[in-house]
Amino acid sequence: MKYRKFGKLDVMGSAFGLGCMRFNGEASGDSIIDEEKAISLIRRAIDGGVNYIDTAYVYLDRTSEIVLGKALLDGYRDRVTIATKMPYEQVHDRESMQALLDEEFKKLQTDHIDFYLMHGINKDKWEKFKAIGAPEFFDDMKKEGKIRFKCFSFHGPYEDFEYIIKDSDWDMVQIQYNFMDVDNQAGTKGLELAGSLGIPVVIMEPLLGGRLAKAPDNVQALYDKFPVKRSAVEWAFRWLCDHPEVATVLSGCNEAEQIDDNLRIFDTVEAGIMTDEEHKLIDEVREAYISRTKIQCTGCRYCMPCPQGVDIPGIFAAWNNASLYGVNPADDWGFRTFVLEKGATADKCVACGACQTKCPQHLQIIEALKEAWAEIG
Ligand SMILES: NC(=O)c1ccc[n+]([C@@H]2O[C@H](COP(=O)([O-])OP(=O)(O)OC[C@H]3O[C@@H](n4cnc5c(N)ncnc54)[C@H](OP(=O)(O)O)[C@@H]3O)[C@@H](O)[C@H]2O)c1
Repeated sequence: MKYRKFGKLDVMGSAFGLGCMRFNGEASGDSIIDEEKAISLIRRAIDGGVNYIDTAYVYLDRTSEIVLGKALLDGYRDRVTIATKMPYEQVHDRESMQALLDEEFKKLQTDHIDFYLMHGINKDKWEKFKAIGAPEFFDDMKKEGKIRFKCFSFHGPYEDFEYIIKDSDWDMVQIQYNFMDVDNQAGTKGLELAGSLGIPVVIMEPLLGGRLAKAPDNVQALYDKFPVKRSAVEWAFRWLCDHPEVATVLSGCNEAEQIDDNLRIFDTVEAGIMTDEEHKLIDEVREAYISRTKIQCTGCRYCMPCPQGVDIPGIFAAWNNASLYGVNPADDWGFRTFVLEKGATADKCVACGACQTKCPQHLQIIEALKEAWAEIG
């Protein structure tokens, strides 16, 4: 296992950090997942050199922290740093923040949390956290030794990221980043900004939640043509670790083979390792994925609200996900939650055209919606 310096912090973290959001299997014990299997996966990772573990209050129906707490008994807690998070929906004042943190200590069976994050914030959520005094609460908890580092995880546009990171004295940030997300969310600009401030960056969704692990034919052909043979997973992790700003790469693993594979990969990768030819390959791979794009919707949502309640960007995102990464719309969480369950479906479109006049990309939305719905509806 390679270990990496966490920016300005006096921390050396394992290049591979284990994410505790994606365990699966049959419900057991206090959890909706297979506890015994999850505990053995966590311990396998730690025994293999992982010293950074990421969870959150809400993961796996609020049971991820409980399972992690059990896995860290028998001396394992002392071998790792724990990152967990405060969800903005659950807190409204200092008392509720304290109650939530105390509950997390109990679930994790620990008396301190190393990296404590405001969970999944954008500018709006950050303003809410500020309004209830979360930054001061985090600072006080640091002084009391209850948490070691004040951090946030981010989902939103780059402008929000720049605003938030400059608006407080953060110890670490967690962003979604992979070779397909260079211009999405915080993106490369956000990574480099954090790096310039000495703030370590922890990476989530390095394989886009597993989508980059299964290369489509045109991408696999590029990997196959390259003189050095590596799996799609290895290329994705290698590309990330090449960036010096990256502190640790989180990956959620569901099988012992995945843990072992990742332990092997993260034993070989470090900053500056990629050659020019390798960078060229990843640029070609990115283009090969992009060539599968169905519609150039950027998800800006200028077309919304639709008078008929159709979630236009949500439908286009699922259409692109299906084509780029082979995601079955039935398994696409965003599509299920925001389109199907909310009844925001394309068959409600009456072709009024209100959306088309507002689209900055000048997309022919009415026709595209019909085509998309015929394929994924
Ligand atoms: N703060 C936030 O808002 C937030 C949001 C997202 C994630 N996170 C954290 O970041 C962590 C990492 O994100 P992620 O779970 O999306 O990571 P990821 O690495 O992008 O995706 C994990 C999935 O990739 C596949 N995988 C992993 N290693 C593999 C291997 N060696 N070979 C083949 N497939 C492999 C597995 O998919 P299959 O199950 O399909 O096999 C696994 O479930 C999460 O677990 C969570 O702790 C935080």
